[in-house]
Amino acid sequence: MPRPRRTPTPVIRITHWIGALSMLAMIGSGWQIYNASPILPFSFPSWMTLGGWLAGGIAWHFAAMWTLMGAGCVYLAHGVVSGHFRRDLRPQGARAIGRDMGLALRFRLSHAPGRYNAVQRLLYTGVLIVAALTVASGLSIWKPVQLGWLTWLFGGYDIARRIHFTMMALIVGFLIVHVVLALLVPSTLFGMVFGRRPAPQDPETVR
Ligand code: HEM
Repeated sequence: MPRPRRTPTPVIRITHWIGALSMLAMIGSGWQIYNASPILPFSFPSWMTLGGWLAGGIAWHFAAMWTLMGAGCVYLAHGVVSGHFRRDLRPQGARAIGRDMGLALRFRLSHAPGRYNAVQRLLYTGVLIVAALTVASGLSIWKPVQLGWLTWLFGGYDIARRIHFTMMALIVGFLIVHVVLALLVPSTLFGMVFGRRPAPQDPETVR
């Protein structure tokens, strides 16, 4: 028997969109900061960056960091206290992941708002861990003296900076797949924006 669908709660929807906007601002401003001292043999085109110059990029990066951390803390507390993480996001076993991956590759994976399949659970849990590592490695290169123990845990300033960049690249990769899927299944987008209105004839829906 299929598990019941749940509507994304207002807390999930509001913190998701504040977090998503903050994340986009952090990525664009992060690319601006990176361009001042690239660690790889390329720079980001200026139209893809936010802030106009190094100091502008830093100002945006820190402003968005506070909104991202605020929304992130509320989302995490809500997810734990309401049981949302345990019930809806907890990764399933390798067998379920293999099955859903196979269905996804054949474009036969069901994708209903509020009922996450094994691949979604894996991706959402993964991106939340990556986002937490991005924040931690960012803090370690922002305050390498005051948070020297954190910088040390990441293997030193230079390695922490590379880890921060790699986490950003993983988030951008997730975002591309995530947005394409949201556009391919617009009902999920509608649900994440407005909350899903259960149809009276849909017995699987719970609030
Ligand atoms: C900016 C463009 C974005 C769009 C259009 C978007 C869209 C969506 C949609 C439609 C859902 C619901 C999926 C479903 O019901 O099947 C969702 C959920 C989710 N998104 Fe996004 N998203 C965006 C950005 C992000 C970013 C930047 C992150 C994190 C790095 C993120 C992380 C998540 C997570 C973790 C969930 C599951 C939320 C939960 O139920 O607890 N999204 N997103």
